[in-house]
Amino acid sequence: MNGSLSIETCRRNFQAERRVLACKFYNAILWKGVIMRGRGITMVWRLALGFLMLAIAGLNAQGPNPGSLKRVPVPQPTNLPKYVKDRTALVTLGKTLFWDMQTGSDGRQACASCHFHAGADHRSQNQLSKTSDALPVNHLLTLDEFPFHVLANAADNRSAVLRDTPAVAGSGGLFRRIFVDIVAGSAADSGYDAADIPAFSLGGVNVRQVGTRNTPSVINAVFNFRNFWDGRASNIFTGMTPFGDSDPDL
Ligand code: HEC
Repeated sequence: MNGSLSIETCRRNFQAERRVLACKFYNAILWKGVIMRGRGITMVWRLALGFLMLAIAGLNAQGPNPGSLKRVPVPQPTNLPKYVKDRTALVTLGKTLFWDMQTGSDGRQACASCHFHAGADHRSQNQLSKTSDALPVNHLLTLDEFPFHVLANAADNRSAVLRDTPAVAGSGGLFRRIFVDIVAGSAADSGYDAADIPAFSLGGVNVRQVGTRNTPSVINAVFNFRNFWDGRASNIFTGMTPFGDSDPDL
């Protein structure tokens, strides 16, 4: 029919079943006159209806809800046997490593130090990677200090800035020290303190250095396609680096 979207075109363009249904519905309204028979709808109306239908179809763009993750098998790299002899031992080792404070050079920093609370970081003191007059070194953050950037109209990025700070909240890591050696039988490595930048030093005493990002939860991270806030950790497992087979050094 003149001007109507063919179902095949819709299917080609939008793939998902629901979207095809939306196209059928759209065509039905436009041409079979289900609602508007005989009223001679204008192009503006057609476009408006078209966008409405596509918006409804778009709601389903992520595919069907998979339900509880308990019933979804944990994805495994197909080439795991190439790197791992004993999976059970690996899982035990991984869990041990995750909670082991000896992993950090001061003997007090584990993966879980940052990924402790529901897999994420709920610490509120000394969590600034950049400080400001209002948010100084070793500051205890409070709820009313968030968000750091406030606009008069949140929907308009050209509206007046009501509050802004150069400070960046992240996750506390290690004190700045120079590594010398590991010490057999000791949780902490040997080393010595080194002067740090003003953001990590208070009255000549170092505080923990803070990364520029807050810690995301690791719970169910195995289901993530790519990891880290910017998705830079590839889904392709090489057992060598996080960057998948795009890593030029492999
Ligand atoms: C100093 C705090 C800190 C420690 C210690 C730490 N992490 Fe993280 N972790 C982070 C931060 C911050 C990110 C996000 C980094 C980014 O997006 O660039 C992250 C991201 C992750 C992610 C990706 C999660 C996601 O949703 O993308 C995993 C998995 C992870 N860490 C596992 C570990 C393991 C395993 C260890 C120990 C070997 C560890 N982390 C130690 C702070 C930490």
